[in-house]
Amino acid sequence: MNSHGRLLQSELDPKQVLAGVTTWDLAANLLHALRSEQPGSDSYITSQKHLRLFGTLAGELQRRVDVPDNRLAPRSLAGPLGFAHYCHVNHGLPLLGASYLDVGCGSIQPYGRMFAHLMAGAKRVGCLELDPIQDEGEAVRALAQAAASALIDPKSVFGSYPITAREILGNIADFDLARMAKGDAGGINRERLVYLQRSATDTGLPDRFVDVVVSNSVLEHIPDPDATLAELARITRPGGFALHGIDTADHRWYGTPSLHRLEFLTIASNDPIVFGCNRLRPRDFEKIFERQGFDILVRMPGVKIEIPAALRARLQPKWSALPDEQLNETWCQYLLRRR
Ligand SMILES: C[S@@+](CC[C@H](N)C(=O)[O-])C[C@H]1O[C@@H](n2cnc3c(N)ncnc32)[C@H](O)[C@@H]1O
Repeated sequence: MNSHGRLLQSELDPKQVLAGVTTWDLAANLLHALRSEQPGSDSYITSQKHLRLFGTLAGELQRRVDVPDNRLAPRSLAGPLGFAHYCHVNHGLPLLGASYLDVGCGSIQPYGRMFAHLMAGAKRVGCLELDPIQDEGEAVRALAQAAASALIDPKSVFGSYPITAREILGNIADFDLARMAKGDAGGINRERLVYLQRSATDTGLPDRFVDVVVSNSVLEHIPDPDATLAELARITRPGGFALHGIDTADHRWYGTPSLHRLEFLTIASNDPIVFGCNRLRPRDFEKIFERQGFDILVRMPGVKIEIPAALRARLQPKWSALPDEQLNETWCQYLLRRR
């Protein structure tokens, strides 16, 4: 505090760089220190400096983690909601009062996408996944954070999806956000949001149970997609919809970007799953959708990749005769309609 009674800035010199220490190492050590530190007997002035410093750090970290790629971040919800809104406007995908099921929702934030649909006005939703939830408290806290962000600034969560804070609040009024903000899953209304630890191939759900089934980066991991799509057709009401995003790249590319995204098509194998994926191309999935009772209303491929002659020469016979346009899409998003 200076002589006029004003609290001073933290004295940390931001230019002091620890040579050779990554932010990852610093963050891991700081987390460990914070968790193991005993409460000190700092003076009031010192504790004020610490609070300022930690507050600044919390703000920086918050900005760093609220990005679309972070499954726990409010900003991750705008993409899926944007596609759903496009399908609603152009093809009548039901949003208000509809029932949704997210198949293979993931174990880090299984609830995120479905909670976004509840905020948008869905009646009830399910999150179906093989694995147990990794940290339910963390996932539930993130939902409360998403609700807070959406209520303060709907566009930060909903993007171009037109909705007001008042409408969002009305849609989740039966959730106890204060309990959820503490990581307490008891704040969730289980009549409207359920977690089902099951396989998409055998959901155990009644016939014609849901209006809309969604999945993201799941169908490429399924050893028997025909059987799974038959099951999803069974539980979708006739006239209902499906939104599937399928990632048909060799998933080793995510760890080794120097690898070509079709490298796994050069491997001779009869196994249904190779490096975690069934290696089906988008056209293969489209035939299965048709076969299992779905019409394709929208196909939205991602960026098309180059196929160098050297890689093409090494492709297994199953793929070597296919034209470029059947190989150069490694991501595709679909809107389907159940016949
Ligand atoms: C790449 S992750 C995608 C997770 C999530 N959809 C997302 O976008 O973050 C694929 C998920 O599908 C799940 N999965 C794979 N096969 C499944 C099956 N037969 N039934 C249900 N979930 C499955 C995996 O456990 C995994 O969590």
